[in-house]
Amino acid sequence: MEIQVKSGEILSEPSDLAVLASFEDTPLPEAAAALFEPKDFSGKHGQTLLLYTRGSAAPLRLMLLGLGKAEKASGETIRQASAIAINEAQKLQVKSVTVAVNSELPLDPEEVSQAFAEGIEMGSYRYWGYRTGLSDEQTFRVERATVLARNNKEKAQAGITAGQKIASGVNFARDLVNGPGYAMHPPQLGEEALKLGKRTGIKVTVLDMKQLTEQGFGGILAVGKGSDHEPRFIIMEYGQAEAGTPTICLVGKGLTFDSGGLSLKPAEAMKTMKSDMAGAAAVYGAMQNAAELKLPLHVVGLVSAAENMPSSSAYRPGDIVRTLSGKTIEVLNTDAEGRIILSDALFYAQRYNPAAIVEFSTLTGAIIIALGSHASGMMGTDQALLDKLIRAGEVTGERVWQLPLWDEYHEMIKSEIADIKNIAGSPAGSITAGAFLAEFVGKCPFAHIDIAGTAWVEKPTKPYDTNGATGVGVRLATEFLRSYA
Ligand code: BES
Ligand code: ZN
Ligand code: ZN
Repeated sequence: MEIQVKSGEILSEPSDLAVLASFEDTPLPEAAAALFEPKDFSGKHGQTLLLYTRGSAAPLRLMLLGLGKAEKASGETIRQASAIAINEAQKLQVKSVTVAVNSELPLDPEEVSQAFAEGIEMGSYRYWGYRTGLSDEQTFRVERATVLARNNKEKAQAGITAGQKIASGVNFARDLVNGPGYAMHPPQLGEEALKLGKRTGIKVTVLDMKQLTEQGFGGILAVGKGSDHEPRFIIMEYGQAEAGTPTICLVGKGLTFDSGGLSLKPAEAMKTMKSDMAGAAAVYGAMQNAAELKLPLHVVGLVSAAENMPSSSAYRPGDIVRTLSGKTIEVLNTDAEGRIILSDALFYAQRYNPAAIVEFSTLTGAIIIALGSHASGMMGTDQALLDKLIRAGEVTGERVWQLPLWDEYHEMIKSEIADIKNIAGSPAGSITAGAFLAEFVGKCPFAHIDIAGTAWVEKPTKPYDTNGATGVGVRLATEFLRSYA
């Protein structure tokens, strides 16, 4: 979509739809206030009121949009509001929409315009490639959004450009996750990385079965054994290691489908398991963004990709897996496979001697019980790193909530027959999974972000999400990288 910034007054600019966003308790311009009963619009967060000006103002339609209380305003307020605006425009089938805020915003103009563009681009995302018989309303696309800014137009334009790029990384990740499992086996995930490399100049290497075997990626190989579709390890490198340029490793879980393996999942739990590569997708989106925003960093994206299937060649409960690190894992449940494939990727990450490893995975159902879809779970080994991610979560609205990794949790995953076991029963299920991962990062500052509850939503609560993949992690990782650069 084309998004532009102009100066001007919303009520004197001709347009098919003008959206005037207003905080609670902020008086509206008289020409707007004259069009409706005061009780019909209070400015409550997310409230809308559509008015027809009938010649009393330049726009044909005027939509009032509530931003809630001014003192609670954040980038997220704007992101959500612009998503609501664009969806209303879509319903009304207007080609272009003009937007303004009714008062000075207590926020940085660049942050506001970035959030605005993100809301527009994420809010108009649909995954309809597999649907037929769509109505005109469904296929209609708004073509242009114009923001009327009072001042700081250059900053606003810069924010919009960044926001559009960042949201395109999110929508890229959503597309990867929403595709059916048969269309996104590990080799396809590898192909997608190669395409990303071609598009952006990111250096991409995909290790195939033979290379995984030769190099000893025992975790990935074990999990992938039961599937007809070979596993892959995907290495993406943006920028290069140089003095003064920190290296950040982003690691993603790429289970293109998780049936549970021989410890088969029940039907209900398996329904959404094509989304078990959402961590990988988050890394892809963030890599694209690092390149598009030309961040002054060395960013390495690592994805372990496998399909977890039950078959006579599948790995079994009771197996002992020798991982790339040399450490052995006692497999007690083949459905706790994410941590097994990630152990290889996390160990591999150490060869870059990174300033930080940030890993995204749809790792545990337990994190959904703990946090629902309103925050991702986070654990890690370096508080300064975790604090940066918490801050990035607040800025982006992709909140993370920290859980502890005390020694006692590490005790819970000790095995008699191997170095570590892959499950420790249901208590602290998300934390023992995090503790397991932390065993493979050595001394590198490490953060694990469990996105099992946030990567996929059936009933979205944010106006810029649709049901299915959210693309969570992309904006969080991008903001984190920008704060690091
Ligand atoms: N991919 C699942 C976790 C998951 C659950 C993601 C729901 C998204 C939504 C993971 O591989 C898994 O199955 N974990 C098990 C671990 C258990 C066997 C210790 C789980 O959470 O039940
Ligand atoms: Zn599983
Ligand atoms: Zn899984």
